[in-house]
Amino acid sequence: MKLLLVAGARPNYMKIAPIYWACNETAAEVDVEIVHTGQHYDPALSEDFFRDLDLPTPSANLGVGSGSHAAQTARVLVGFEALLAERKPDVVVVVGDVNSTAACSLVTAKAYGCAPDGLGRPLLAHVEAGLRSRDRAMPEEVNRIVTDALSDVLFTTSADADANLQAEGIPGDRIDRVGNTMIDSVLRSRAAAETVTLPGSMERTPTFGLCTLHRPSNVDDRTVLARILDALREIAGTTPLFLPLHPRTRERIERFDLGAHLTPLDPADPPAAGLYAVPPLGYLQMLRAQGRAAFVLTDSGGIQEETTALGIPCVTIRENTERPITITEGTNVLAGTTRDGIVRALDDARTKAAAGRCPELWDGRAGRRILDALVRRRAAAGSPARMTARAGQESG
Ligand code: UD1
Repeated sequence: MKLLLVAGARPNYMKIAPIYWACNETAAEVDVEIVHTGQHYDPALSEDFFRDLDLPTPSANLGVGSGSHAAQTARVLVGFEALLAERKPDVVVVVGDVNSTAACSLVTAKAYGCAPDGLGRPLLAHVEAGLRSRDRAMPEEVNRIVTDALSDVLFTTSADADANLQAEGIPGDRIDRVGNTMIDSVLRSRAAAETVTLPGSMERTPTFGLCTLHRPSNVDDRTVLARILDALREIAGTTPLFLPLHPRTRERIERFDLGAHLTPLDPADPPAAGLYAVPPLGYLQMLRAQGRAAFVLTDSGGIQEETTALGIPCVTIRENTERPITITEGTNVLAGTTRDGIVRALDDARTKAAAGRCPELWDGRAGRRILDALVRRRAAAGSPARMTARAGQESG
């Protein structure tokens, strides 16, 4: 089986890694290749993660870079179409909800003639299918809906995702609840994370909070960003709070002249209470930082899941989440974006964390389950991709 794993942006790498590792451990004959779209290109958002996750350099990088949604998506469409025609894989696996995910799904769903026999198209599998925030102003929600509608196999992390897909009319035989590959990566990397060093100031601070912020709805509007930074400053008044800055957030803080909310770091002293910006962390550093943090505040999707698996109190600075299981079973509290809401949610999250538990199947074996399912589906006569191709030819 010739398998192509697609990665485009930072939150994708830890989701493909467990499938890649499973390919190297299986007895089945699997020829696996990783393709990077180049949506994220800074080493801190790309190469460093491949190293931390023990992944090889991708065999191809489409180099699409940044741009408007249309421009970025269009560059992936054109680049990935040419790549599929050349590689002719049996299976394309896309993960998560970034622009690269939706674009590669669209190409694969129409790539007749790009399967190894030159007739059908590759099977399209979506890992982390079925999550819904029900907020279509979020570009990721649009990407999720498009990708799920087109995928032949939908690998889900939780029962709520299965229910979302069924409600959208996706047949049950295409949905396969396998667990969470992001948590496979956490469990496998925890020991290695203990060996890395955090940026100096964090390493020297015995107790700290950790915050990540990058969502356009939180950082692209000056009023909203100022309000959130106010709340963070209040929390940082009692516990040092570290903010590893995504390039988008760094740029917005500068452009909106909000740098005064940040506390300058004195390299000589262990940081006292204050809000400290630090550069983006690598994957292992981020795991170690979460493990050591007294609490986490975030607008990321994946960090809601990682903190649930690690049992760390988590406050999500958003109005909604596509990952409700982290609230019903885990350590997550949804805060909204008001100053009082965020401060109050932190108290709730601290109280709640003790009762949190790791959801079913978030056990470190999702990557293996996915690979086994793909091998089985590919071996089955009349796989969905080929049946679709034949049906198309007969009716045409
Ligand atoms: C993307 C994903 C988001 C994910 C996030 C993780 C979409 C729609 N969004 O958002 O779901 O949570 O990645 O980080 O796909 N930039 C750099 N260096 C890079 C990449 C980006 O400086 O390597 C800057 C550029 O100014 C760029 C901006 O970040 O314009 C936004 O990058 P983009 O990939 O469009 O979206 P993210 O905000 O990173």
